[in-house]
Amino acid sequence: MEKFATLTIGGQTMELPIVEGVEGDSAIDIRMLRQKTGFVTYDPGYGNTGSCKSTIAYMDGEKGILRYRGYDIEELAENSSFVETAYLVINGELPGREELNRTSVLLNDHSLVHEDMQNFYQNFPRASHPMGILSAMVNALRSFYPELITSDKDFEEVYVRLISKIRTMASISYKISRGHKVEYPRPDYTYCANFLNMMFNTPVKPYILRKEIVRALNVFWILHADHEQNCSTAVVRAVGSARTNIYASISAGISALWGDLHGGANQAVIQMLSDIHEKGASVEDIIRRAKDKSDPFRLMGFGHRVYKTYDPRAKIMKKNCHEVLARLKYKDPLLDIALKLEEVAVSDPYFVDHNLYPNVDFYSGIMLRAMGIPTNMFTVMFAIGRLPGWIAQWRENTQDPEQRLTRPRQVYSGCPRRPYVPIDGRGEGTW
Ligand code: ACO
Repeated sequence: MEKFATLTIGGQTMELPIVEGVEGDSAIDIRMLRQKTGFVTYDPGYGNTGSCKSTIAYMDGEKGILRYRGYDIEELAENSSFVETAYLVINGELPGREELNRTSVLLNDHSLVHEDMQNFYQNFPRASHPMGILSAMVNALRSFYPELITSDKDFEEVYVRLISKIRTMASISYKISRGHKVEYPRPDYTYCANFLNMMFNTPVKPYILRKEIVRALNVFWILHADHEQNCSTAVVRAVGSARTNIYASISAGISALWGDLHGGANQAVIQMLSDIHEKGASVEDIIRRAKDKSDPFRLMGFGHRVYKTYDPRAKIMKKNCHEVLARLKYKDPLLDIALKLEEVAVSDPYFVDHNLYPNVDFYSGIMLRAMGIPTNMFTVMFAIGRLPGWIAQWRENTQDPEQRLTRPRQVYSGCPRRPYVPIDGRGEGTW
């Protein structure tokens, strides 16, 4: 039976339908609100706005639950590979053996980047941030592959192309930034092994693949594969809602992810831990600064819009981080600082009252550092992992008949109407 919420405004009553999700989550459908009452809702940052119905990921921020297509993140991280999880996130079901093999073949077929694109890399200034380069390169793919998506088969080709090429493009960017020869993808390597090889193999020092490190990278990317309506995904959907092509939509998502409050936090965490290490600030000082409202500093890698408990991904990431450091016999003083920061923060009343716990970014950078990934590429690593989610969400949005052009309203708070004054009558001005 359909349920309703009743809203009373200035003596006028309106019945608003309740939309129920499959996990007990529910929303009030306000689509007719403005038309019937003249009001819009006010929700900066959309913290209480359900912008879509989605079948891709489920999160319970109070209980610390994350599922992709119904599967717990813990089970996927334990048993799945990144390619299998990407298939699941995009197609809705785990692949069978034949489907997985076909996907691997397609990933190999699409792994090269057009040689003309390599010239683009040469022309970025040396100090360019790899996220800016990645966003530009993904957008540029549209110029090389302008075909429209008109069937499921076209879509498969496009999503495999994106997933395969993003890894090649990211590693080329690293190689060129170091002035090294580009390493081509190898068809005999798995997705993650291929990435590590393209990053670190050189003619003078062959890269030795370790299965534990390849596994850790699979887990890292599985943990990032989707996170429902986060900032960058909301951007991908919003851009796609204007019928913008998938490459440009994802390029916009990469730009959104770059920010410190979102995916850029993994780089910011390492910068914060390095500052503590190098400048000798105490953990207590850092916690004091994070609590001080007159100081814009925040404890990076802590807090989350949805999780009001420990981020389930952070638990797995912390374990993954310890395992990688142990396997590589890598002693990182930043890990000791992070562990101490966590210990102090989670028992501090400010952090407890504000429900601030480590998020996925808190330990991920320490693990990536141990693998040899440079700090400015941490967010690129996040982007590669999040790509299946962006693709799935872009597709779902474009196929959802209830979706419209994304176009929020506002409450105008500027000057009321006033007459134009010619320049000679304006006096000195105020600037
Ligand atoms: N350190 C100190 N205080 C914090 C932190 C933090 N990391 N995060 C939130 N707070 C405080 C705020 O000062 C605010 O306090 P007040 O209510 O007393 O004024 C309260 O907690 C709520 O903060 P908001 O900014 O309103 O919370 P929001 O949900 O918008 O922010 C966010 C979530 C952006 C992730 C925030 O927790 C943050 O800035 N964290 C640090 C950056 C970070 O780690 N980002 C990665 C997030 S995960 C991801 O995107 C992959």
